[in-house]
Amino acid sequence: MSLPEVDLSTQIAELLLPNPVMTASGCAASGRELSQFFDVADLGAVVTKSIMLDPRAGRPTPRMAETPSGMLNSIGLQGPGIDRFLASDLPWLVQQRARAVVSIAGSTLGDYAELARRVGNSPGVAAVEANISCPNVENRGQVFACEPYQAAKVVSVVRRELPRGVPVLAKLSPDVTSIVDVAESVVDAGADGLVLINTLLGLAIDPDTLRPKLGGVTGGLSGPAIRPVAVRCVWQVHAAFPDVPIVGVGGIRTGYDALEFLLAGASAVQVGTVIFNDPSAPVRILAELREELARRGFAGVGDAVGWAHRPVEQLATR
Ligand code: DHB
Repeated sequence: MSLPEVDLSTQIAELLLPNPVMTASGCAASGRELSQFFDVADLGAVVTKSIMLDPRAGRPTPRMAETPSGMLNSIGLQGPGIDRFLASDLPWLVQQRARAVVSIAGSTLGDYAELARRVGNSPGVAAVEANISCPNVENRGQVFACEPYQAAKVVSVVRRELPRGVPVLAKLSPDVTSIVDVAESVVDAGADGLVLINTLLGLAIDPDTLRPKLGGVTGGLSGPAIRPVAVRCVWQVHAAFPDVPIVGVGGIRTGYDALEFLLAGASAVQVGTVIFNDPSAPVRILAELREELARRGFAGVGDAVGWAHRPVEQLATR
């Protein structure tokens, strides 16, 4: 029996997307290498690797280590810098007709302001993702998202520099006592949406070499190991601020996993670590999600968002 049609379109603030599946920042550079596997315009959006003002070599190798159901990485925000990004990577995405969500990362408020100004003045930018939660910075004091006041300051300068029609999405860290407090602070500062969650700070030691596995010692933990943490964060923030658009990310491998995030309160999802072993995963996950929604009788993505928060009596009468 053929399944009913599902309206996959979704909205994150003013940003209208044809479907809710995006790449996660850092897992496919600016999308170019994915284009040998699928048309990047088929995704809801492509989120680029966080860009900084200057070119950056990143942290010492090794930069990746496998962990149970997960991956630790310590790249150190390696990248070409904003000049090359705007001259080459962004125009390529625009030419593909992909919706480009540009992730920016800085060490200071001034960095974020300049990045936002330059990205905001470039044609074809669908939204800016403010990466205020990279775990691989020189000191933990630089993880803006670990402190509600600092997080808000970054978001407010980014918001101020961007044109009205370009939403700013704040990507938060789960490594905090209360993600709801950080969410409230950045929303008050002008965040149009939230991306939940960035990687968790982790460390793995090789008992044979007796040393940390990563050159950078600590790294960001991603993959299915963190999915319950991510779903919990989406749940808590959606419960506190049901009108704030959330993009859910953390260990999504299938459409079934993606549905879990929608039910918790996410209006869109990002797919990251799975891309390393299955580069066409984003389009597969989109097809699977369509089927999971249809099978459950959801007419559209919007009908599933936050569904799991409904009281049990309503579930029984559905
Ligand atoms: C890096 C940045 C991140 O935001 C993250 O979650 C993991 C790694 C990095 O470039 O090192």
